[in-house]
Amino acid sequence: MRRAAALLALAPISLTALGCGSRAPDREPFPDGAAARVERTRTEPPLGTAVTWSVLKGDDELRALVPRAFASITPENDLKPDHVWRERDTYDFAAADALVDWAREQGLRVRGHTLVWHQQVPPWLSDGDWTPAELERMLTEYVRTVVGHFRGRIDTWDVVNEPFTDAGRLRTSRDAPWLGVLGPRYVALALRAARAADPRAKLFVNEIGAETGGPKLDALVRMVADLKRAGVPIDGVGLEAHLDAADPPSRARLEQTMRRLAAAGVAVEVTELDVAAHGASGERQAAVFGDVGAACAAVAACGRVTVWGVSDRDSWIGAGERPLAFDANLRAKLSWRALTGAVSRR
Ligand code: XIL
Repeated sequence: MRRAAALLALAPISLTALGCGSRAPDREPFPDGAAARVERTRTEPPLGTAVTWSVLKGDDELRALVPRAFASITPENDLKPDHVWRERDTYDFAAADALVDWAREQGLRVRGHTLVWHQQVPPWLSDGDWTPAELERMLTEYVRTVVGHFRGRIDTWDVVNEPFTDAGRLRTSRDAPWLGVLGPRYVALALRAARAADPRAKLFVNEIGAETGGPKLDALVRMVADLKRAGVPIDGVGLEAHLDAADPPSRARLEQTMRRLAAAGVAVEVTELDVAAHGASGERQAAVFGDVGAACAAVAACGRVTVWGVSDRDSWIGAGERPLAFDANLRAKLSWRALTGAVSRR
């Protein structure tokens, strides 16, 4: 049923007809499976998506669709601290290894997400009572172990995730001991350990809700300047872009944010794009996807746009919000056409 519906929906998509591209779409013979009928999409900047190994491994259609539609993946959860850092000296890379190996077999790049965060922290770490010296050793060892394990297989890491509050202060947390025990230097410690473990990987700080500007963006720009002045390796800032179709940032605002970060001397990526419909029409949502793609395409420092999930069926904010670019039956939505139309095709 799903297969038949998807076949009908995907066959007629032509970006040329929509005025979105000048070349004929790059079609290849289709293997079985409707999702595979999405034309192979390679763009500049490239597009990525977030996936979870436990979902992907059992879904043939998804496994056919992802490498055609996207050039890169981010493990949605498989690399988070609670998944990987099982005990102080015990790591579990099984799911992440399977996902990363699959991605590489498909010719996809992989974003590493994420090492130091205040959520999805292993309980043994939250519950512990650590001295600064002990926690510094643990942080360094953890980052070196994980980044080192994937050296050469993961090209970009979100080393620190969501460090700031909306007011632009470093975030304290009952779950994560980093700021409380180590103070602000935890950021530099993590970045330095990551650089040592894989000198070629691009190191990012990733943030939610900074794309619209305000104190959080100001704080990020200051942090980048401070880190650079201190000789701490920082290559990029990720803008998550969990947006709302009812109140989206304008394309001009998105561009302005990206240019400000670029001027601070770092690369930018859109790392977790989704657009909660909030009752808005598909056209309205598509315009937001288009604006994000266009803003990134217009700013040389913006290197990739990753959507946070493939289809509305699997989104973390719930299928009801229809926040992604493929519908629950893996049919490309207007939002997919707008996004791919806004970036240039290769
Ligand atoms: C979310 C995942 O999508 C969910 O499956 C999980 O239960 C919670 O985390 N910011 C981030 C992502 O940096 O890691 C979060 O991902 C969404 C918000």
